[in-house]
Amino acid sequence: MSSSRAILLAILVTISAAFSLADPDALQDFCVRDTSAAAPIINGFTCKPAAATAAADFKFSGLQKSGNTNNKLGSAVTAANVISFPGLNTLGVSFARVDYAPFGLNAPHVHPRATEILYVQQGTLYAGFVSTTNNTLFAQTLHPGDLFVFPRGLVHFQLNVGETPAVALAGFNSQNAGVTAVAKAVFASNPAITDAVLEKAFQINPELVDRLRELFGETHV
Ligand code: GLV
Ligand code: MN
Repeated sequence: MSSSRAILLAILVTISAAFSLADPDALQDFCVRDTSAAAPIINGFTCKPAAATAAADFKFSGLQKSGNTNNKLGSAVTAANVISFPGLNTLGVSFARVDYAPFGLNAPHVHPRATEILYVQQGTLYAGFVSTTNNTLFAQTLHPGDLFVFPRGLVHFQLNVGETPAVALAGFNSQNAGVTAVAKAVFASNPAITDAVLEKAFQINPELVDRLRELFGETHV
């Protein structure tokens, strides 16, 4: 193959990969999630009949109030995704409000289906993500009005570094970004990952495995 054809092929592959990254495009104006028990299970959600769709289906007030940060980590994520806000179905976006107690942490986690863009509304956050190349940390201190972006699928976190509560708003390019909290996925899976895996993976003894299971079985993320 000539080098120009190889470059063209590489460009085409890259472009098609880029288009397959986000949720599929909608094939109609809207498709409010049918929340009835009889709705068939498909990859995504079926639509409520258009005649039954109302303006209220496109409004969500669940982010007006702060989340309860009275937990070990001192943070709370309130999601406006296709589950809590059925009007988002097929639209390829979702949103969240994150509340942080003073020094509260939104612990390391990943979103398998979305890139996240975070806007700091109140407080000072230390936020970052780790790339897949040499586990490089990209972290910054954020102030009100700042944006930070966490690429899809990368481990990321935010820590409130202030003595006052903080609030951030997050947008996602998926109706259902999904979340895997790193510590919980490993130490609080159901059923538990066998000890031999955790001992070897983390180079720790069985007592520490038990202790970490106890700790992460209790936290909220
Ligand atoms: C913040 O990282 C969030 O996922 O809400
Ligand atoms: Mn996140």
